[in-house]
Amino acid sequence: MTRDDPNRHLRFEGPPLAADEPVEEVVPGDEVGRYRVVERIGAGGMAEVFRATYDGRFGDKKQVVLKLVLPELAESADYAGMFLDEGRLTASLSHPNLPVAYELGLHGGRNYLAMEWVDGVPLRKIVSRARERNTRLPLDATLKLMGQLLECLSYVHTLRDAQGAPLRIVHRDVSPSNLLVTDSGALKLLDFGIAKARMHEHVTQAGHVKGKMGYMSPEQSRGLTVDLRTDIYAAGTLLYLLVTGVGPFEHLSEAHAVLQACATGYFPKPREVDPTLDPELERIIMRALALEAGDRYPTADAMLAELEVFALYARLMPSTRALAAAMRELFPERVKPAKEPRVRRSSRHALPIPVLTPAPVMTVTDEELASSQGPSASMLTEPATVGMADAAPGGDDDQELTPPLGTPAVGGAPTVPLSWVVAAALLAAFLVTLVGIIALNRPSKVEVAPQLEEFSSPK
Ligand SMILES: Nc1ncnc2c1ncn2[C@@H]1O[C@H](COP(=O)(O)OP(=O)(O)O)[C@@H](O)[C@H]1O
Ligand SMILES: [Mg+2]
Repeated sequence: MTRDDPNRHLRFEGPPLAADEPVEEVVPGDEVGRYRVVERIGAGGMAEVFRATYDGRFGDKKQVVLKLVLPELAESADYAGMFLDEGRLTASLSHPNLPVAYELGLHGGRNYLAMEWVDGVPLRKIVSRARERNTRLPLDATLKLMGQLLECLSYVHTLRDAQGAPLRIVHRDVSPSNLLVTDSGALKLLDFGIAKARMHEHVTQAGHVKGKMGYMSPEQSRGLTVDLRTDIYAAGTLLYLLVTGVGPFEHLSEAHAVLQACATGYFPKPREVDPTLDPELERIIMRALALEAGDRYPTADAMLAELEVFALYARLMPSTRALAAAMRELFPERVKPAKEPRVRRSSRHALPIPVLTPAPVMTVTDEELASSQGPSASMLTEPATVGMADAAPGGDDDQELTPPLGTPAVGGAPTVPLSWVVAAALLAAFLVTLVGIIALNRPSKVEVAPQLEEFSSPK
């Protein structure tokens, strides 16, 4: 780094964190900083990952993940530097689809990063479970997952420093083991271990190929310079994997064959694997997987916009709820059995139904119920839940539910005959359908953000 380097302010200029102490192994039960190690959950090229707990002095508890630089690499200044770069980068990011980083520390001669524990399933396992069951993740759930990934990539790719200069961060390892999906349908992107930003260009030497084979871009597999379009390519391989059930290069077993096929752009088109796939979806995947980076989507937003238009025309409604439902379906063993909440029948203790807009609260008499052609009496007396349809019931036995329909709200309310309610519901359904038809007939416009110029400018 020279004095003229405009980004020298981005480098860490404090004392080196690596200490001159013997490197120690970490085992469950050990105390690392303020955390107690519970179990080892993985190890990669650069670090060991542990689940640990934090027990605060005032009863506050947290599950955390500790990522420690591998013992054999801890003494290498290069690797320790790379690890700290990753830690500092992770700590500076803040997005709903990234785990929260808590702190960087030093234990037994090894630097560690403490971060949020994400209780999720790696995408790798989701795909293999679906395959075992001879099924795929439903398309609405897949599109929600891709939407979250692309929003997160867009955030990372467009980060700027305090002076407004683009940081040009590229994740470079967007692969099935670095994506976790939680039971509530949230996606988290892990592992900026080989992320490259201008702030640490020294990390990867030219020609040093990293990343997971089969999800690497052609330029990455050739060891060439990469930009954000490498992550777009990886997003394309993941979409391919999710909709067909196999990765684009999975039919090849030899590593060198995968690298060669990737570098030359040879892989079966998605509809050759599954002819039932929508041709528009295949077009989107093939654009993301273009051999030349210039032929791919220029930004994550541009790819997301096309997926959103596809969802609209395919009459799909991608939602977190759909992804959560798919997770429950694929991983029933993760669903905690809900305790039956105790329902208090007495209207004296019942909570009022929360109303967002002023609306009359109705009561229905037994006679009206008996004579109505509408929903059955049992449906009408079923307790209504408050909030999101898939909200967890929680384990609180004392939880009170809202009163059944027909229970007068606290404070008294006017009564409305059932026939009025049915007529109003039919009218509302008609209006919603009408608005939907009008919305669907409007031409959509895909805007491509002109961010690429900044990224393709020579370094
Ligand atoms: N914040 C986290 N929450 C839960 N599991 C995690 C977290 N971070 C990492 N893991 C688990 O540990 C594995 C390895 O972590 P990762 O950050 O990908 O490091 P590596 O560089 O070794 O690939 C991940 O694939 C994931 O299963
Ligand atoms: Mg990883």
